Amino acid sequence: MSSSTVYEATASAPVNIAVIKYWGKRDTKLILPINSSLSVTLDQDHLRSTTTSRADPSFEHDQLWLNGKEDEIKAGGRLATCISEMKRLRKELVEDKDPNAPKLSSYKVHIASYNNFPTAAGLASSASGFAALVASLAHLYQLTVSPSVLSLIARQGSGSACRSLFGGFVAWQMGSDPAGTDSLAVEVAPREHWPDMHALICVVSDDKKGTSSTSGMQRTVETSALLQHRIKHVVPERMQLISKAILEKDFDTFARITMADSNQFHAVALDTEPPIFYMNDVSRAIIALIVEFNRLSIANGQGHKAAYTYDAGPNAVIYALEKDIKQIVQLIVSYFPQRPSEFKDVLGLFGTASSDINTL
Ligand code: ADP
Ligand code: DP6
Ligand code: CO
Repeated sequence: MSSSTVYEATASAPVNIAVIKYWGKRDTKLILPINSSLSVTLDQDHLRSTTTSRADPSFEHDQLWLNGKEDEIKAGGRLATCISEMKRLRKELVEDKDPNAPKLSSYKVHIASYNNFPTAAGLASSASGFAALVASLAHLYQLTVSPSVLSLIARQGSGSACRSLFGGFVAWQMGSDPAGTDSLAVEVAPREHWPDMHALICVVSDDKKGTSSTSGMQRTVETSALLQHRIKHVVPERMQLISKAILEKDFDTFARITMADSNQFHAVALDTEPPIFYMNDVSRAIIALIVEFNRLSIANGQGHKAAYTYDAGPNAVIYALEKDIKQIVQLIVSYFPQRPSEFKDVLGLFGTASSDINTL
């Protein structure tokens, strides 16, 4: 090919919202977790990162722009690790095998990424962001590798990112190898397995969170006794039970475990020294509403109809089945009327995994 060939690729990745939360690392450099976790990846057409990578011999440095603003790629940092791991795969899997393949691994890359939702606000932007970064480089470098292999690299950008390489219901197996070769994402069930499952995102605040996930979980590992109980005696059984509930499409069990795990994650945040509060009064009011809604449906013999979960921020994600979504949206909108986005402390915006929800 001529020297004017443009080597460029674009990929998108959606966010995933954990139902069994990852919180704590046993190795902070390799990003190895202290517990396995499980999430649902939202559909592509909602919250997502879109990343374009270009390799060119004229580039002097690897550079990345996030939402139009340059983000420094620190030597030895997470972005640098992901980029160099992808270059290593390019060299090993393509260039070393085919002497005619262009030596893209020796070129610097320029990367531009956009999130179509608030960044660093507890809506898993690091998950979609690093998954899209790795996917776009895989495309650029023409790597034919499985999503699990890519998940090993995305994990080193942000732990939760490894799960966004798959759609549907995904587990991140914590693994046991100190080198991290078995700490990767695997599919529990594809999206089509349970198409009735939907997620309603209630953006309570799009502010950047006060304590990043990275520093918050590190403080919890260092100070919380409750976290030790959680990882030994709670998460392993929940992983089994929720995987089974997903395979059997048992929403009642799925909902009970999801809410219990969100509650315990926020309890370990509170058990941290000094304590971390990710939820606010609006978050707690949404919990109260969902608890009451479920109480009535259980009394009617219908079991749980909605499951709330909160990541490291005040924003609610409500999992529910298609048949119940309309009623839940109406309930929430009636208590928290939508307001212009400058009202940061009230519900501002809805997104969802269901494409028809925006028209309700
Ligand atoms: P969140 O709850 O949004 O995941 P985190 O504190 O875990 O918040 O991570 C936010 C960080 O993730 C950002 O400050 C940025 O460094 C990184 N990030 C977010 N989006 C992207 C993206 N599209 N590409 C690369 N990195 C991203
Ligand atoms: C509460 O993956 O953002 O969303 O690995 O340090 O980048 P780093 O943290 P991150 O933590 C996510 C925490 C969580 C739970 C989850 O997604 O499992
Ligand atoms: Co994150």
